[in-house]
This record gives sequence, C-alpha cells and structure tokens, in this order.
Amino acid sequence: MGTLFRENIERMAGYTPGEQPSSGASIVKLNTNENPYPPSPKVAEALKNFDPAGLRLYPDPMGSEFRAAASMEHGVDLENVIVGNGSDDILTIATRCFVPEGGKMACPSPSYTLYRTLAAIQGAACVEIPLAADFSLPDDFAEQAEGASLLMLPRPNAPTGTAFAKDAVKRLCARFNGVVLIDEAYVEFADDNCLDLALECGNVVVGRTLSKSHSLAGLRLGYAIASNEIVSGMMKVKDSYNVNAISQRLGAVALGDSEWLAKNIARVRESRAKLISGLLALGFDVPESHANFVLASPPDGDAQRIYMRLRDEGVLVRWFDEERVRNYIRVTVGTANEIDFLLEALTRLVPQGERK
Ligand SMILES: Cc1ncc(COP(=O)(O)O)c(C=O)c1O
Repeated sequence: MGTLFRENIERMAGYTPGEQPSSGASIVKLNTNENPYPPSPKVAEALKNFDPAGLRLYPDPMGSEFRAAASMEHGVDLENVIVGNGSDDILTIATRCFVPEGGKMACPSPSYTLYRTLAAIQGAACVEIPLAADFSLPDDFAEQAEGASLLMLPRPNAPTGTAFAKDAVKRLCARFNGVVLIDEAYVEFADDNCLDLALECGNVVVGRTLSKSHSLAGLRLGYAIASNEIVSGMMKVKDSYNVNAISQRLGAVALGDSEWLAKNIARVRESRAKLISGLLALGFDVPESHANFVLASPPDGDAQRIYMRLRDEGVLVRWFDEERVRNYIRVTVGTANEIDFLLEALTRLVPQGERK
C-alpha cells in the first residue's frame, strides 16, 4: 500500500523541539528559553482558587477575559487581539490564513525553524532569506521576499538573539506585498517593540507569548495584535476552543501583574549581562542579545563538542546543525547559580591557550 499521507506530509521532516528531560533528572536546563523564575504569585493564587466545577463547560471560544486584559495592557481595542494556544498556535493560524497551498512563505535565515515546518505542512514553499554577516537584514531583503504572501519576522530573532533595526523593519513592512508577522516572543527582554506597526500598517501582525517573560511556558498562551480586519479573519481559522479555561483565567491575571513582570524582566537582563561577560572572558564570540538567551561561539568554533561535553557535565544547551549557526551554542539565561555552574564547566572545556 502506498502512503496514506498527503505528499507534502510524507516528504517533510517534523519540527524538532528542544529536549525536555524527565522532571526528576538533575540537570541545568538552558536549552529551550524558558524563564528560570516561577510565575507571578498572583497566578499561583488564581490557580489555587480556580474552581474545577467550571471545567464541565467549554471555555469562552473568543477568549474575551484574556483579550480584555491584553487590550488594557497595550491600549488597543479588544477587536485587535486574538488569543492562541501558545504563540505557535498564532503562527499556525497565520500560515493557514495567508499562505495558499502551492504558495510561498518567507523568513530570514537563520531564524525559528518552526516557520519552515508550518510552510511544509501547508504544502507551500519557504523562502529562507540569508541574513547579513552580523545577522542584520540585507538591503535587498524585500526583493528576495517578493512573491511570498506571508513573511515571518522574529524580532528579537531566534536563535541569534539580535534585533533588526526598527526603521529597517518599518520600511520592509511598507514594501512587502503581503502580511508581515513580527514574532515578538522575546520582545520584553529588548529595548523596543513593533506594536505601533501592527496598528499603523494594515498588513502587520505582532505575535506575543506568555511563555518567556511571564514564566508561563507550560500554560501554552500566546496572542497577536493586528487590525480588526486581520483579527476577524484569523478568528475564522482558529480551532473553536483553542485556549483552555485555566489558561485564559491565569493569563488574564498574569497580564495584570505588570509590577511583577518588570522585576522578572530586570533580573533576567541582569543575569544575561553576567552570562555574556563570562562567555566573552572565555573567548567566546557573542552577538548582542536582546532576548533571554545568547548565541555563543567557542574560540575554536567547535560548538558541537562543547554542546556534547556540557551534556556529559549535566548542562543542557542547544546546538543547531544548521548553516550559519553550526559554530554556536545557544544558551538560555538561567539563574545566577546556573550561570556560575555553566561558566565553571566551560572553563574546564575551553583550553586556556585558546582564550582571547
Ligand atoms: C521565535 C519564537 N516564536 C515563537 C515561539 C513559541 O512560543 P510559544 O508557543 O511557547 O508561545 C518560540 C519558542 O521558543 C520562539 O522562539
């Protein structure tokens, strides 16, 4: 019997998520850009008070409580917000909305590898446009993206941690003849954001998540902000009950605790500075990070060896066997203790003579 699958599904490789070791394992886990600190105590309180009797009913299909919290937080209308089961759900909805089968999506390279998987599932091509040597947008990016109907643009970018210049992004949105999804999964750790573009330009969607700065990766909650027209079109495509009742409730509480959020972001940024200076002292090349992770290349460029040796020492980081980033490890910003542990291990792994 031949394959039961659509040809594109048969041909494609699925997305490879970062490893999630069993919870009992004693491992310093710096591989999937989770936040090392617990979520807001108000979220813990809301979870304790959540009445399981409410789970008898389906959740609100429109996610109105959460959307109201997001619209308050960002000063936009409820109609400008759509909620998703993680921001990955938003990326999936956007792909289904804007990329026809046999059509084209575009994204920078290197960037989040899920984009190419979503294009493959859709039966579309993914045009991966090489970034400049410093991971900035090349001048002819818009020309290279021509013909694509959706451009996925992560800012800050993953896995590089760098942020494209905002004026270049703005020009790109004006020139691109399709929808630009600015994926701001890490934006709270950066110095600025592109929310204004979602409101000013009719073709821009900004994606956000509570997985990173809100320490809620396990909740699976993301959202997007765009024009009423775009949001109402995306609503037609999402699963009817795409966000469960617990996530909607806790997410609304989390968004309301901006004081806690500011502290959480500040401590990650502080630890990021410590991690970067430790890596630089060991001779690593580290592009400027605007996220809660850093990309770092060891002095001899053999990042795969470092990745494997760190693993032996009980530290999980990420290594991508991908052009342009093969010489780097990607390290999530952990607690101060986790960073010390990592830097001590690296001190043993990087020969003294090789340090700059
Ligand atoms: C660039 C980027 N976008 C989106 C996501 C998805 O985040 P989530 O589905 O947890 O909201 C990630 C996760 O690591 C990411 O790196």
